Amino acid sequence: MELRKRIKWLFWSTFTFLSLAVGLFATIVLIQVKPAIFEAYLVDPANWRAKNIRMDLPKGERGKLIKYGHKLVSETPKWMGPDSDDDVLKFTGNHLSCTNCHLEGGTKRGAAAWIGISQRFPQFKGRENRNVTLKDRVNGCMERSMNGKKLPEESTQMEAIIAYMDWLSEGVPEEISQQYTGFPEIAIPNVKADLVKGKEIYTVECQTCHGEDGAGIKTANNSTYQFPPLWGQDTYNHGAGMNRVLTAAQFIKGNMPFGQATYEQPKLSDEEAFHVAAYINSFSRPVKQFTEQDFPDLVLKPVSTPYGPWADDFSEEQHKYGPFPPIISYYKDKHGITKKK
Ligand code: HEC
Ligand code: HEC
Repeated sequence: MELRKRIKWLFWSTFTFLSLAVGLFATIVLIQVKPAIFEAYLVDPANWRAKNIRMDLPKGERGKLIKYGHKLVSETPKWMGPDSDDDVLKFTGNHLSCTNCHLEGGTKRGAAAWIGISQRFPQFKGRENRNVTLKDRVNGCMERSMNGKKLPEESTQMEAIIAYMDWLSEGVPEEISQQYTGFPEIAIPNVKADLVKGKEIYTVECQTCHGEDGAGIKTANNSTYQFPPLWGQDTYNHGAGMNRVLTAAQFIKGNMPFGQATYEQPKLSDEEAFHVAAYINSFSRPVKQFTEQDFPDLVLKPVSTPYGPWADDFSEEQHKYGPFPPIISYYKDKHGITKKK
C-alpha cells in the first residue's frame, strides 16, 4: 500500500513537472517565432510608441518588403501611379499619395491611422454589405481616394502594403489602437453648409497651400505635389469617403491647416470645418463608376453620402450639404441606427 502511494505520488509529480517544462518551452518557442501574439499583452500602453521606419525596421527580406510598402504609400504616384516607369504599375489614377490623407506614414492620430489596423480587419462594411478584409479596404481607397484600379490580391505591391500595416500594428495595445482609429468627431451643426462662409475660411486658412483653384501646388521641378489637390481631375473621386462633407469635416478638424491643427488641438471650430469641407466638395472631381451599387443595404449608407439612391426621401442637396440632424433622426427613429457621418 505504502509503495503504491509513493509510486502514484512520484508519477503525478513527474507528470506535473514535465507538463510545466513543456508548456514553458512551447511559450519560449512561440515568443521567438511569433512575438506579435504576446506583444499586445506585454506592452504597457503608457510606454508604447509608434514604430519608426528609419529606426525600427526588422532585418532581412521582411524589412525590405515593409520598406517597399512604405514607399508605395508615401510616394504613390512614382511607385504605383501615373509617374511609374512601368505601365503595369500604373494602378492609381491621380497624383495623391496615400499618406496625404493618412498622415505621417499612417501613424498620425486623427488621420485614420493604420496603427492596430491589422487587428481591426476583417470587418463588416456597409458599402459592401459583407465582411471585408484589409486588402479589400486598401482597394476601396485605390478605387476611390486614388481614383485608380484595384491592386491584385497576390501582387507584391499589395503584399508590401499589408506587410507595412502589419508591422505598424504589431504589439499595439487595444487601448492605443482605439485612440488612433478614424478621425476626431464633430458636433454636427443643425444648419445647411454655407458655401460663402466656406469660401471665406478657405481663403484665409487653406488657399496659400492648396491654391485658389484647389489644384494644389507642385514642387519647384514640377515633379510631385508639395501640396495636394483638393478638387479638379487630379484628386479623389466623387465616390471617396473624403467627398462626404461630414467625413471631410472630421479630417479637416484634426489635421488642417497642416502644421497647425492636431487631433489634440484643432484649429477650426466644428462649424468652420463643416463649411469649408462643403466648399471643397462643391467643385467637380473625377466620377466613380457604378456608385449606385454601393451600400446594397441602403439603410446603412452614411447620411452625407452625396450620391443616391437613399432609403429615405430627403433631397440630393440635403444629403450633400445638410442640415444632417433631421436625416440622422429619421434613421434613429425608423431603424434604430445612430449615424455619425
Ligand atoms: C483623399 C484621402 C485619402 C487617400 C489619398 C487615401 N485614403 Fe484611405 N481612407 C480615407 C478615408 C476618408 C478613410 C475613412 C473612410 C470612412 O470613414 O469610410 C480611409 C480609410 C482607409 C483604411 C481603413 C482605416 C480604418 O481604420 O478602418 C485603410 C486601410 C486605408 N484607407 C488605406 C489607404 C491606402 C493604402 C491608400 C493609398 C493606396 C489610401 N488609403 C489613400 C481617405 C484617403
Ligand atoms: C501649410 C500648408 C497647408 C494648409 C494651410 C492647409 N493644408 Fe491641407 N494639406 C497640406 C498638406 C502638406 C497635405 C498633405 C499632408 C501630407 O502629405 O503629410 C494636405 C492634405 C489635405 C487634404 C487631404 C489630401 C487631399 O489632397 O485631398 C485635405 C482634404 C486638405 N488638406 C484640406 C485642407 C483645408 C480644408 C485646409 C484649410 C482649412 C487646408 N487643407 C490647409 C497642406 C496644407
